[in-house]
Amino acid sequence: MYATAFLDLPALSHATGAVLLPGSKSISNRVLLLSALCEGTTTVHDLLDSDDTRVMLSALRQLGCGVAHNGTTVTITGLGGRVQKTEALEFFMGNAGTAMRPLTAALAVMGGDFTLKGVPRMHERPIGDLVDALRLLGCHIDYLGNEGYPPLRISKPHLVLEAPIQVRGDVSSQFLTALLMALPLAAAQRAITIDVVGELISKPYIEITLKLLARYGIAVQREGWSRFVIPAGSHYRSPGSIHVEADASSASYFIALGALTQGQGITVQGVGADSIQGDIRFVEAAQLMGARITSDANALHIQRGAWPLKGIDLDCNHIPDAAMTLAVMALYADRPTTLRNIASWRVKETDRIAAMATECRKLGATVEEGPDWLRIHPLPAGAWRAASIHTYDDHRVAMCFSLAAFNADQVPVRIEDPKCVAKTFPDYFEALFSVAEAHSVPVICIDGPTASGKGTLAARLAQTLGYHYLDSGALYRLTGLAATRAGLPLDASAEQAIAHLARTLPVRFQGEQVWLGDDDVSEAIRTEDAGMNASRVSALPAVRTALVALQHSFRQLPGLLADGRDMGTVIFPDAPLKVFLTASAAKRAERRHKQLISKGFSVTLDSLRADLEARDARDSSRSVAPLKPAQDALSLDNSELSIEESVDQVLAWWQRKQPF
Ligand code: DC
Repeated sequence: MYATAFLDLPALSHATGAVLLPGSKSISNRVLLLSALCEGTTTVHDLLDSDDTRVMLSALRQLGCGVAHNGTTVTITGLGGRVQKTEALEFFMGNAGTAMRPLTAALAVMGGDFTLKGVPRMHERPIGDLVDALRLLGCHIDYLGNEGYPPLRISKPHLVLEAPIQVRGDVSSQFLTALLMALPLAAAQRAITIDVVGELISKPYIEITLKLLARYGIAVQREGWSRFVIPAGSHYRSPGSIHVEADASSASYFIALGALTQGQGITVQGVGADSIQGDIRFVEAAQLMGARITSDANALHIQRGAWPLKGIDLDCNHIPDAAMTLAVMALYADRPTTLRNIASWRVKETDRIAAMATECRKLGATVEEGPDWLRIHPLPAGAWRAASIHTYDDHRVAMCFSLAAFNADQVPVRIEDPKCVAKTFPDYFEALFSVAEAHSVPVICIDGPTASGKGTLAARLAQTLGYHYLDSGALYRLTGLAATRAGLPLDASAEQAIAHLARTLPVRFQGEQVWLGDDDVSEAIRTEDAGMNASRVSALPAVRTALVALQHSFRQLPGLLADGRDMGTVIFPDAPLKVFLTASAAKRAERRHKQLISKGFSVTLDSLRADLEARDARDSSRSVAPLKPAQDALSLDNSELSIEESVDQVLAWWQRKQPF
């Protein structure tokens, strides 16, 4: 997951390959609650691990459910329809509507002393229609803030089940879903009827609810979409084990990707024609826009068909979440696209109609909007503007706008707060980068004399930007270590043998750790000896050549921080930013001294300074890859700067090169 303040996507050229998507949010949270309401244990396979499911899981734990994790499999030991705990419980629901609404209903029917809260946005998302319905049933619910909105306080109910329960269906289908999942708890003796008032929106989500209820032993009878009857004698039964299919809404981004790019196409695994999720019908919408899609039971294959895409006019009520993806696809169309019947967007994670309109306009598009519709005009080549996309703590806004990086003008796209995708798809950008290719992956090179702090600076910058990090010195250190272990002399007599070792280094970088084959050599390559050996092997031209391909392989999306000697001159000469970091020998000696003392080595400042000066002289004058700044490098003397100040300076230089 990218936890950076922003993530810059360089212009993407195409995408090809297969992605395995995480489990569906809607199915995951329903299955968790249903498993919790059952008696006995349910093993849930391929559960989505995201903010929203964590919210649900922690609430279930608070209620006394058993929750045992084993990778993406979770075993839930249910409550059997009763809360054993008598103490007051306070639940934090984050911004998870799929947890807030159904839990409110289930808790209100079971009764207890419960408070449900969320993030500020959750307190702006309506729940009044559900509370009204539950109150008709005899549930006791109070508003702790604004009337009609969370936070809520729930106490013991006096259930009155004679009359049909009425619930509005035109604000959020989650209200009906919540009742459908809670009321089987009260239907042992008598049938319970729910009448939907107003046109029911997002019917496919109700279908998911009904299909899952059936798996848990509840056969709801329905009359059209206006009356639902939970039969007398209903009783939750665990299916024992259940699989969560991949998220069809998440699939929409990769379906769009396949429709946008030339090449072999994109394969989406984990969801296909057999899906019970309504958003699978995004496939039809994408086909209308020109995508070529074939479906297997559990997979989709997407290729670009019509190009430009075809603008459409579509009632999106059946695919409310996935339809956001159409808004960005519309930028690549031949005529305006109108998305209709999307009023529910206004009460989602953010006001999604306003958000999509605002951000599409930032990209240069003309957008019209109404209370329940959105019209996006395409962006022809030459009209795209580089934009910093605000994401409103809305995962779908972030994921949708990543698709803008395929624009014809090759302008980059900045996604603010990229970690908001964690709501449903924590590794979304990783998945995108695994199939997408950029016109050019940006590289920032940092070089400088030994002990100038370039490693620290480069690593910090990489962290701030979410970029990969190449510590090229480590590769020479590894080569020196591998050659020493192989008993080779570290000089020209073994040049070819060492070069061969360098070409086939079984190296793996894992966070701070460096592995050589099965050995963790993180410490071994950091010794002064290892540095000396690296210096020796790095002077052998064949060794330098042998490491070129390995160094190039680090240049991956979204970008690279490359630290080391010839990064800007030989390895990445086209890097858009090269920094040559210097500091006085006295300062560098002081820093190295502190470092070594803290590690328990006894050295004198004077000898260190003399060593550094000698090494500078040798490094600058050596014939192979001498220490010298690239011609177009910006020089940064950090003698008097803190690490933060150095990081800020380089970030400022980098920002100056961005079109945002
Ligand atoms: O940066 P460092 O101390 O880990 O580098 C170890 C040695 O490798 C040092 O003597 C410089 C050399 N080196 C090189 O020649 N080319 C690079 N790209 C990186 C390091």
